[in-house]
Amino acid sequence: MDTEPGVEFDGRCVTACERCPDLVASRSRIVNGVGPDDADVVFVGEAPGATEDEEGEPFVGRSGSVLDEALREAGLSRADVRITNCVRCRPPDNRDPTTDELTNCRGFLESELRTVDPAVVVTLGKVPTQHLLDRSVAVTKEAGSVHDLRVDDVSLRLLISVHPAATLYDRSQREGFFETIAEAARLAGVDTDGGPGQSSLGDF
Ligand code: URA
Repeated sequence: MDTEPGVEFDGRCVTACERCPDLVASRSRIVNGVGPDDADVVFVGEAPGATEDEEGEPFVGRSGSVLDEALREAGLSRADVRITNCVRCRPPDNRDPTTDELTNCRGFLESELRTVDPAVVVTLGKVPTQHLLDRSVAVTKEAGSVHDLRVDDVSLRLLISVHPAATLYDRSQREGFFETIAEAARLAGVDTDGGPGQSSLGDF
């Protein structure tokens, strides 16, 4: 799909890329999004951390455990949703991705969002929220709010969430985070008050 030398990308997954020299040096592997290609909910984080870099899957460390728990409470499981990141390679010393790194990876993320075309995109924390909305955002204030997101010819809904790691540093953020994930399930058509069999998500 992409004809740039050294880049292999199938529209959702990158199997080769050397655009960011620091990240090429610090990564063990490229960490692509996981989950159904037609998921109704896509979570977008910042970048892989150490555990994700080791295991090759987004949100499998401590933040991932919080996300898994919130998904379960919302009547979803990890297998029902797609989870990806703005940047697919681990930044050195877990620093934030630079503007250039975010820009280099943006096309991959946009293509993934366009082709999956979910009912809702949930941005986890400041970096993905600001990156996709292209403005500065006070995430704790705006968490739970829904915004239009246009990716080329595709119109999507974006729901702002705090990053799950925030709930580990500050326990008072936990309830709000869980509510936002429940709201994501509602926007995707899952009846969070119903028991098993109430979900309208197609794939489970
Ligand atoms: N934090 C992120 O933003 N992404 C991950 O994949 C893991 C932790």
